[in-house]
Amino acid sequence: MKKFQAPRGTLDVLPQGARRRLRVVEIAGDVLGRAGYEPMETPVFEDTELFARGVGESTDIVQKEMFTFEDKAGRSLTLRPEATAGICRAYIAHGMHKLPQPVKVWTAGPFFRHEAPQAGRFRQFTQIDAEALGSADPTLDAELILLFAEILERAGTGPSRLRLSSLGTPETRADYVDELRGYLRAREGELSEEVRGRLEQNPLRAFDADHPGTQAVMAQAPRLVDRLSADDAEHFAEVRALLDEAGLQYEIDATLVRGIDYYTRTVFEFESERLGAQAALGGGGRYDGLIEELGGSPTPGVGWAAGVERILLAAGESDDAATADVFLAIADDGRQQAFQLARRLRQAGLRTEMEQAGRSMKGQLKQANRIGARAVVIVGDRIEVKDMDTGEQRPAETADEAIQMVEALLA
Ligand code: HAM
Repeated sequence: MKKFQAPRGTLDVLPQGARRRLRVVEIAGDVLGRAGYEPMETPVFEDTELFARGVGESTDIVQKEMFTFEDKAGRSLTLRPEATAGICRAYIAHGMHKLPQPVKVWTAGPFFRHEAPQAGRFRQFTQIDAEALGSADPTLDAELILLFAEILERAGTGPSRLRLSSLGTPETRADYVDELRGYLRAREGELSEEVRGRLEQNPLRAFDADHPGTQAVMAQAPRLVDRLSADDAEHFAEVRALLDEAGLQYEIDATLVRGIDYYTRTVFEFESERLGAQAALGGGGRYDGLIEELGGSPTPGVGWAAGVERILLAAGESDDAATADVFLAIADDGRQQAFQLARRLRQAGLRTEMEQAGRSMKGQLKQANRIGARAVVIVGDRIEVKDMDTGEQRPAETADEAIQMVEALLA
């Protein structure tokens, strides 16, 4: 018989891994919740058009990486490659501009990109995503970055590098690209053939070149951060001042390119040295034109997404095995009584497991040990409570007394 495997680029998350994931999502919910971010959910698939327009026709995501399919009525749908477009669609669809602004939300769940799988890169992966919609206030940019840093710290990812830049407006960017192209044309002889070939289409790529001649030219090239309009420059300066004041270290990286088209002004990425080629723990930025692009009225927004698998990779293994407080061992005909006692102990707030595999008494005590139970109640013709630390075993007259004894033992 054929044995089925999880599809290429997807992961089976077994209980220990699932517990660690849940923990990271709980940390994020706690950190974001304290800053007023509310949970929100949007569908796992959306109209393909939403991503084409939102993420951008020319991006790798839209050109190559979307899982697109037709429904039975022939409509083109796509498994979401990211969260921001869907959240903005919902903001427009539900008239959320009528709520007090900014609307702060977060979500966590599966996302899909048809990429070549490798360490830290999957076709189905999990993001935690936070967004603040309806305000251009620079404190939101800084707040979101600081909350991200706090989540990473509490998740134990170790040191990370924060790269920060500002892209200004699309107009500033277009002017800048023209300027850069002119600069590169004047030095064409010193550039690699590859960069020369892409000069017309995407001169920004020259910043990533590893060709020494090109690198020398790029070191002197004009930078977008130096061409920002007065408003954009002021916004960026305020974001930086807020981060400085908070003591968060960052590097201004004028070459930071994000793989999505909607960004304006602030962009950033957190990277970890503990990850290999796929170093980004997460990233984001401001997208002041996106909601309008999707048919809403002009509305600013800012947000980020973190990759949960990468956070866990950077945090490393931990041996937080599942534990129980109490194990109910069954002697004689004690099964029904043990079952009822388990319910009562659980209602009392104790993590309780009972024998459910027909083991011998010796096997049951071994199992109790394995799951770290500090108390064992042996239920049969008599009830006995065993302290697993000391080995002491004492009889209880009634179930009530057994519960009291267990509670005293665990206190
Ligand atoms: P992104 O940079 O495309 O941004 O993705 C954010 C993070 O998701 C990445 O840094 C990485 O940790 C994780 N990630 C992305 N692709 C994969 C993959 N194939 N396998 C594993 N992890 C992956 C966004 O998605 C934007 N929506 C962020 C944002 C929100 N910007 C504004 N608001």
